[in-house]
Amino acid sequence: MARKKIALIGGGNIGGTLAHLAALKELGDIVLFDIVEGLPQGKSLDIAQSGPVDDFDARMTGANDYSAIAGADVCIVTAGVARKPGMSRDDLLGINIKVMQSVGAGIKEHAPDAFVICITNPLDAMVWVLREICGLPHNKVVGMAGVLDSARFRHFLADEFDVSVEDVTAFVLGGHGDTMVPLTRYSTVAGIPVPDLVKMGWTTQENIDAIVQRTRDGGAEIVGLLKTGSAFYAPAASAIQMAEAYLKDKKRVLPCAAHLDGQYGLENIYVGVPTVIGAGGIERVVEIDMTADERAMFDKSVGAVRGLIAACKEIDPSLG
Ligand code: APR
Repeated sequence: MARKKIALIGGGNIGGTLAHLAALKELGDIVLFDIVEGLPQGKSLDIAQSGPVDDFDARMTGANDYSAIAGADVCIVTAGVARKPGMSRDDLLGINIKVMQSVGAGIKEHAPDAFVICITNPLDAMVWVLREICGLPHNKVVGMAGVLDSARFRHFLADEFDVSVEDVTAFVLGGHGDTMVPLTRYSTVAGIPVPDLVKMGWTTQENIDAIVQRTRDGGAEIVGLLKTGSAFYAPAASAIQMAEAYLKDKKRVLPCAAHLDGQYGLENIYVGVPTVIGAGGIERVVEIDMTADERAMFDKSVGAVRGLIAACKEIDPSLG
């Protein structure tokens, strides 16, 4: 069987880490694409030279031309710029919409059968724009946020309880950002819900509230520490888990920014919900019951995403 092909569009911090992880896991041959000449070629060669040490076989290619992504099975998009001091939200949107236009056109022409995972921020709006431009089926275009947000939540909970991260599950809903909705009653240690752990005296409600807030602010905390960039190890690991679920038809239940077409009473929006990822892409959106409080938080988050999508449509009226 021929190896799968993974195209990474954007060869910056996340793109380079994605390439390294995909190679280590032997997910397939890898094309790293960027507009900066030399950057994807240099990173690809460097990673290829680690192959003999780490025992992986993956053809690594760096490219500045979209023809290199031809026939890719998976495309992971990190192309774009991060918000810099003094830049308004609309400035950032304007730049990244243009980036999504060129990336979307490249995917449409060269990799129309791919499963596309978008990471570029602001995530829920950018994945919506990318889907509009590339025109692929909605179930084949998805945003990476929930796996990262729930990984952050799991890390903090495991730390609080002094247990293995492997035994902690966490559940988040909503947009990627400060309106994200971590659901503690669906978050567990070995199946024991967090509210029960509070009752059992493992922690206090105050500590859980602080962890929820720290999870919401997870990205900003790392930007504050790094000062010149944003998180890249955990975002890359999260997208690789989604790619692997697709390539190996694992039918993993993962929270992702998925297109909603009636689910949760919402239409034509990308927002974080639990999904099943297998060979069919997003094979199912899992609809859970929410309490009135949870629904109110979710609706607030949906409102924030709708606001971003409306701003995108104002900047580029040809969208949607
Ligand atoms: N086409 C392809 N690549 C592009 C384009 C474009 N039109 N515009 C910019 N790039 C490339 C840049 O050259 C850079 O190498 O995208 C890369 C982005 O890399 P970094 O700046 O290192 O950003 P990174 O940390 O990888 O994050 C990428 O993911 O989490 C989000 O907010 C984050 O939107 C950002 C994205």
